[in-house]
Amino acid sequence: MAGGITTPEFIAQVSNFGILGAIPSGYMPLKQVQEFIESVKALTSKAFSINLFVDYNYYSQDPLAKPKEILEIEAELGILKESKFTIPSPPTMSDLIELIIEQNVPVVSTTFGLLKEAEIAALKKAGTLIMTTVNSVEEATIAFETQDSDILIYQNSNAGGHQGGFECDVYSTEVEFISFMQNYSDKYLVMTGGIVTRDDVKCTLKKGFDGVQIGTGFLTTNESTATKEYKQALIAKTRHDATMFTTSITGKKARGLKNTLALLDIQNNLGFPHMHYASMLLRKYARDVGNTEFQSLWAGSGINKIEEIKSLNEYMNAIIK
Ligand SMILES: Cc1cc2nc3c(=O)[nH]c(=O)nc-3n(C[C@H](O)[C@H](O)[C@H](O)COP(=O)(O)O)c2cc1C
Repeated sequence: MAGGITTPEFIAQVSNFGILGAIPSGYMPLKQVQEFIESVKALTSKAFSINLFVDYNYYSQDPLAKPKEILEIEAELGILKESKFTIPSPPTMSDLIELIIEQNVPVVSTTFGLLKEAEIAALKKAGTLIMTTVNSVEEATIAFETQDSDILIYQNSNAGGHQGGFECDVYSTEVEFISFMQNYSDKYLVMTGGIVTRDDVKCTLKKGFDGVQIGTGFLTTNESTATKEYKQALIAKTRHDATMFTTSITGKKARGLKNTLALLDIQNNLGFPHMHYASMLLRKYARDVGNTEFQSLWAGSGINKIEEIKSLNEYMNAIIK
């Protein structure tokens, strides 16, 4: 979970428990990714994974105009200083892959895109397992054909955060995935989205999935570094229809709690990652002052099953034991 939600201590605690902790590299400079990996390695000898936003687009570092809707809110809140924003230069994929191999990270998961042939070959040569996030069996076919994926992460539409697939806006059903996997008996299928409780885990495994991936359930633990107000909003669920898909926060479709920012109708949506940086000052201000209307409150529809904040160990014991 990218965006400052987890720490190396958090990931290591998850891995030490026997669950595969996931380092979020999204939005991070290379040096920070390296330090994150090194910190996790210092705290656990168990397996962990690293998640990559796969995007090869070049983004100009020239200042760009923020959408007028964001400027209006900044002006209303009295925080408007700059009408422009810039996109920091992201690490190149080849630098990230080199780092992952150098650091002997055992598992890589990808989202938003596909790795190139040479990158796959390098990871495979190093013995790294590849997990590819997909939303549909069409994407699953492409993943097996081009990514040599060891594990597919089937993300359904209940999932919190961004839609992780790379093709078009289609979700296949659980039945379609289970039936698709019959042709790939040496591969593994993990389901994610709306899985929160021990019963959810049991049910998902019973349906034929090999594993589960959980986001929102981990967010609502004491140890996650989501803000206090974010956690409280997740528990309170004050708005009747609590989660929704929005593109207004980062420019890419993502599920989170309904708030003013998620509902904002941006006429000239600049797309991903532009909107992430265009809305950054506003979101930071909202976090600093505890305003939940202008933060990104990513959450899956499984929040309906979360009633209290638990300690991380309590939560993991509740779903596994
Ligand atoms: C706060 C938050 C941040 C997330 N960040 C990422 C990310 O950086 N990379 C990624 O592949 N998925 C990310 N996801 C999606 C999760 O990997 C997973 O698909 C989702 O959390 C599953 O649904 P659930 O939240 O209902 O458990 C994020 C989800 C949340 C809630």
